[in-house]
Parts: sequence; structure tokens; C-alpha cells
Amino acid sequence: MSASTSFPIGATVTIDQLADDPYPVFHHVRATEPVTWAPAIGQWLVTSRDLIMEVLRDTAHFRTDDPRSPIRETFGPQMLSTEGALQRRYKSACAPPFNAKAVDALTPLVHEVVAAHAGALPATGAELRSAYAAPVAVATVARVLGLDPAGDGLLREWYDTFADALINYAGDPGTRSRAEAAVRAFRVSLRPVLASPDRASQALLHTLARAYPRLLDDEEIAANALIVLFGGIETTEASIANTLWAMLSHPSALDVGQLDAEAMDRCVEETFRWEPAVQTCSRYAPEAVTLGGVPLPAGAIVQCMLGAANRDPARYRAPDRWNPTRADPTPHLAFGFGRHFCLGAALARLEARTALLALFRRHPRSRLDSERPSRPHGHEFRKPPRLDVLWE
Ligand code: HEM
Repeated sequence: MSASTSFPIGATVTIDQLADDPYPVFHHVRATEPVTWAPAIGQWLVTSRDLIMEVLRDTAHFRTDDPRSPIRETFGPQMLSTEGALQRRYKSACAPPFNAKAVDALTPLVHEVVAAHAGALPATGAELRSAYAAPVAVATVARVLGLDPAGDGLLREWYDTFADALINYAGDPGTRSRAEAAVRAFRVSLRPVLASPDRASQALLHTLARAYPRLLDDEEIAANALIVLFGGIETTEASIANTLWAMLSHPSALDVGQLDAEAMDRCVEETFRWEPAVQTCSRYAPEAVTLGGVPLPAGAIVQCMLGAANRDPARYRAPDRWNPTRADPTPHLAFGFGRHFCLGAALARLEARTALLALFRRHPRSRLDSERPSRPHGHEFRKPPRLDVLWE
């Protein structure tokens, strides 16, 4: 029996559906094929929250260190494409600036970054994904790493090149060589910091470079800095944009100018559940394994669809409704789960809350520009391609 006869619904799933509006597709496959083969992407899709948790817990059978991984090929080994003791060493070396206390101490820096960008917005409105969410995310992660603020534009260019390489499934050689050149340029840009770190700086690159004995060598610092950079830009930009879009698409539910930090946190958290920026945690099975009763062959790549987990009706009431006052006890999986749980989750929350409060305090009458409608789009990473907002 072929995979398409065993998984008739998976066989009908298209990439366009997944990118455009995956949620009806998720409900459809989850009901009868919660583990399904999707020929359109040549990978397995997992859509039930319980099965996704099972995969993310089981690092023996479902791993990130796939030798075919585009992340590993582009950045070299770092915490998101290693397992076991090596992954723990990388992650614990990079963890200090991201724990709750350290992130608290970053509050003034994030306020400063946000104020600079909010203050520079035009008088009547703006395309806020590129004019606000993106530069806030780039500037924040650059400063947490300890990179020169003057290089933010270059970082963004490098970032876009990496992003193309990470979805270069067709193996286009031009895309690959542009990403290799960007990685080389990034490594060169780190040399002065690694050779003579600032003794007073708490930024990650400086603390890693002056540690004695060193926890990571120069290569390891660069590869892990790349994943921190990569992990911290698009995701945060997309989450700020998705939350803004969710809030402004529900104008009757909210008076955005009146929200306090706690109410804002509820909007941010509900958007993480409802429209997560990162839609998939990918794992590969080095050996044949059974998941949810389905036998998977050795080498199978499994996409754990976080957007599907977060709208699983077994766990969330009226899961398709954006409801910032929802009281479901089950946490969302927007930051993943287990050993690879997002390193930057606390920072991402601080950035989103600060950026949105600052925007709505300045522009309490913000509204979506009905002449330029846009909504989140994308299969693996989701965000609105544009987000035009007016405030006068
Ligand atoms: C709202 C914004 C963010 C979202 C939605 C997000 C989401 C995620 C998810 C789902 C994972 C797990 C990937 C997997 O298991 O396959 C992850 C891992 C990671 N994230 Fe984030 N992230 C965000 C912000 C950040 C920020 C701000 C940083 C750093 C500045 C960061 C750094 C990382 C790193 C380094 C990992 C890999 C951790 C490991 O492998 O152990 N992320 N993130």
C-alpha cells in the first residue's frame, strides 16, 4: 500500500494551503491522520498536541542533528542542530543573558531601542513590519550579543541571506554560496571582539570571549552567535507584527490605547498560541520508529506543527478564536518544548510587550489600513508580508 493510499488527507495537502491558511488543513488532518505523510513537502506532518509533545520529548528517536539539516550546513554545529552533552554545553554557555533576571536587567536597553524606533515613525502611519517590528528585533539582539549598532543594516542583509539558505530545499548553488559568504563575513566581523573583549560588557560575545577557561572556542562562539541571531530576528519581528495584526483586527474587543502591561501580555500570549511565528519544529528519525501507531522509516523528517498543537480542540476551547482572556490551563507551544525550548523566550516577551505598549501609547487610535490589507502568511515562519497601520 502506498503512502498516499494510507494517508488520503495528507496526500491532498498543498504548500499553498499550508502557507496561506493552514488551520482548516490542520483540523482536517488531525481528526483522522494526526501523523500523516504530505507528498507536497516530502515530509511527515504531526498535528495533535500530545503527539507533538511525544516527539519533542524523545530526543533519542527524534533528533535535530540531521546531517542534511540546512541550519547545520549553513552555520556549522550549534545548539539547534546538536543533541546530548554537546547541545547542553552550547546552550548553557549562551544562557546567562537570557534567564529571567538577566532579561529584567535588559529592560532599559529594550525601552531605549523601542523609543528610538517609535519616535522615528512618520506622523500619519507606517508599514510597521519593516519600519518598526524588524528594526526593533535586529537592534535588540545585536546589543544583547555585543555587536556594533552601526552594523544593524548589514546584519539584516546577512540575516536575509541566511533565511534564503535555510529554505533552499532545491539546493540552489547561488543561494548556498551567498549564505556561505555572509557567514564568512559575520565570522570576520567577530574577530576584534573575540581577540579583545570589553572587560566591562555583559553582552554575550564579550563574556564568552573573556571566559577563562573558555567555555566555547572561536568557531563554536560564532556558530552559536549565528543561531542566536537567526533565532532572535525573524521570530520576534513576526511575533510583534502578528500581535499587532491580531489586536487591530479585533477592534471591538479592545481599546488599544488603554491597555496596561498585564493586558498587553495577555494579547501577546494569546497571539503566540493563535498565530505562532514559528510554525514547525523539525526532527529526523535516525532509525525506523512508530509514532501514534504509524511506522516511520529511518531518515524520516517529521514536522511538528506548532500552530496545529496550539489549536488542538482536545486542549483549547473554541481554538480558532483569538481571545486574550482565555482560561485554558494548557500552555501553548509557540517556543517549542524540551531540550530545544527557545533560549530567547523571556526576551521575546519583553520586546513584544514594550514595542506594542510604546506604539499604542503614542498612537492610541491606530487602525489597519483597509486599502492595503495583509495578514500572516507562511508555512514554516508566519508573518504578514506588510502591515500598514494608520493613526491620524
Ligand atoms: C517570539 C519570538 C520567538 C519565537 C516564536 C521563538 C521560537 C522558537 C522555537 C519554536 C524554538 C525551538 C526550535 C526547535 O525545537 O526546533 C526556538 C529555539 C531557539 N530560539 Fe527562539 N523564538 C523567539 C525568539 C527568540 C529570541 C529573541 C532569541 C535570542 C535572542 C531566540 C533564540 C533561540 C535559540 C538559540 C534557540 C535554539 C535553542 C536550542 O536549540 O536549545 N529565540 N525558538
